[in-house]
Amino acid sequence: MCGIVGAWLNQGGTENITDVLIEGLRTLEYRGYDSSGIGVLRTDIGSESSSSFVRIARRQGRLANLEEVLKDGSLQGANVGVGHTRWATHGEPSDGNAHPHTDGSNHIALVHNGIIENYLELRRELESEGVLFASETDTEVLTQLVGRAYGQTGDLAASLRLALRRVAGYYAVAVVGNQNGATELVCARQGPPLCIATLEDGAILASDVLALLPHTRDVTYLIDGDMAILKPGVISIERIDGEPGTSVEREVTHIDWDAEAASKSGYPHFMLKEIFEQPEVLGRAIFDRLKPLEGDVEFEGAGWTSAELNGIGRVQILACGTALHAGIVARYLIEGLARIPVEVDFASEYRYCDPVVSPGTLALAISQSGETADTLAAMRLARELGAQTMSICNVQGSTLTRDCGRNILTHAGPEIGVASTKAFTAQLIAAYLFALRLGRARGTIDETNGRKMIEELRHLRPKMEQLLTQEYSDSIRAIAKRHINAKGFLFLGRGVNYPIALEGALKLKEISYVHAEGYAAGEMKHGPIALIEPALTTLVINTEGRVADKVRSAIEQVKARGGPIIAVGSDPESQRLGEDVIDVPKTSEWLSPLLNVIPLQLFSYHFADLKGCDIDKPRNLAKSVTVE
Ligand code: G6P
Repeated sequence: MCGIVGAWLNQGGTENITDVLIEGLRTLEYRGYDSSGIGVLRTDIGSESSSSFVRIARRQGRLANLEEVLKDGSLQGANVGVGHTRWATHGEPSDGNAHPHTDGSNHIALVHNGIIENYLELRRELESEGVLFASETDTEVLTQLVGRAYGQTGDLAASLRLALRRVAGYYAVAVVGNQNGATELVCARQGPPLCIATLEDGAILASDVLALLPHTRDVTYLIDGDMAILKPGVISIERIDGEPGTSVEREVTHIDWDAEAASKSGYPHFMLKEIFEQPEVLGRAIFDRLKPLEGDVEFEGAGWTSAELNGIGRVQILACGTALHAGIVARYLIEGLARIPVEVDFASEYRYCDPVVSPGTLALAISQSGETADTLAAMRLARELGAQTMSICNVQGSTLTRDCGRNILTHAGPEIGVASTKAFTAQLIAAYLFALRLGRARGTIDETNGRKMIEELRHLRPKMEQLLTQEYSDSIRAIAKRHINAKGFLFLGRGVNYPIALEGALKLKEISYVHAEGYAAGEMKHGPIALIEPALTTLVINTEGRVADKVRSAIEQVKARGGPIIAVGSDPESQRLGEDVIDVPKTSEWLSPLLNVIPLQLFSYHFADLKGCDIDKPRNLAKSVTVE
């Protein structure tokens, strides 16, 4: 999804603005993009006017293409500017549609993330007044509106406010401008995230806190309807629909992650690094939360009393992508352990299916980023309909954690690889802990069983570590190599491991572009069985437990039709049936998804690597989908 940066550094400082903007964009690359650009204000030597003009460089494709253009030095000598990575919505990916955009006067450069819904209507109106457009984007409409007002008022903040009041849709926008010698850098948010910070000698803004971390750890998140006016060392926040000059207070959040935590630390890809970080994530996610003697858990911020938990009559889980798969695991856990009915919905479906929210409903939104537009909208709808809301989220301070009354933070740390791995296991841990707390509060889990569940969780870390040795990883690479020419993959699982089959298939198709389908093992005979043949590989996840023999019979059915099997899991009988075997240590059935998913992540990683795919930035995908 698009990424925005903007910065203003005091003249005479050691940092170069183009370097700061490019460095910021690099940290946003993981969000997914198809073109990039930066725009700076530069006063040309010999110019008669005291105004600076914008200089813009934009290129389709990777950031490296933009850096190549910048080598000509045409953007040097400036100290304020904005930058953007674009994920095309209106208009194809091209140099001309890339941001920043400027108006006819070249006094402003504007970058935008989101969608201007009434852009066609506004564009027609502006065209009828003689405005010439240079791109197909909705963003340029906003730029022209700002530019026209700026020409008349000479006040960029006022012009942005006027323009935004005419716009319907959602946006994060940053604009830099100069007229008559006065420079301004302004940004606004209605939807996609935006955070800002003052620096000793400047000010900076970005879509994601990761871009600010090399400069500061004290950041302010704008909320919907905010606009901010940035100057070196000073930031003032106002409301878009408020009075000009009337500022509002927003708290400064101190971020514990450092920039180092987001770098690759020697791994060839972020995805592999993040897969290997999972034991640490487990440690962080349970640290300080377990009450081993009482066989219970305590969450720092979720603030539920046992009486409140007893009042929950139904849970609606809302999420997208990988987080949705964590939601399906959560369903098995909450129903199985706390005996509360649970529904899981794609957030994008829930929004429009006219959902029924009965008294006592808890809407549980699960999201790594806390910024996924569909998840936010579904959660808000559930709240409007009377549900209590809670999130399982990785990003403290994200829109979701601010919107939800209660949050369980997953503590996975920054996840850069587009294919989610450690954030997923962290969501599973949070779901397990929540189900345990619910069960204890409602009496469906007694103290002895609670203690047992905690004991099993504490033993999980060394088992995870067993799966994350070089040797184990190499053995999975060898299996991936043997199946490299398969024309497709079927992933089967049942019970609490059914969503792990879905997740295994999603990982593989996301990063290696091979067709993969996840299915409930018992459902295979109702359709996918027609696909079975020697060229289709089936990965079967089977753990000793209630449904082990049922899953074994699915394996037999695949084998009888000549389909190759990779047996994943701790079930020895299934291992005897597989051509290839990926052994997984034994744990309780409830925790088995946390172990079973790891070899599937490694399988996808190695398969994609063997195929030479761009693992951390798979085509067409965005890390955080902040538009509908
Ligand atoms: C995108 C990402 C997925 C992610 C999904 C939900 O599609 O590519 O990896 O699972 O968004 O993101 P969230 O931040 O809400 O978990």
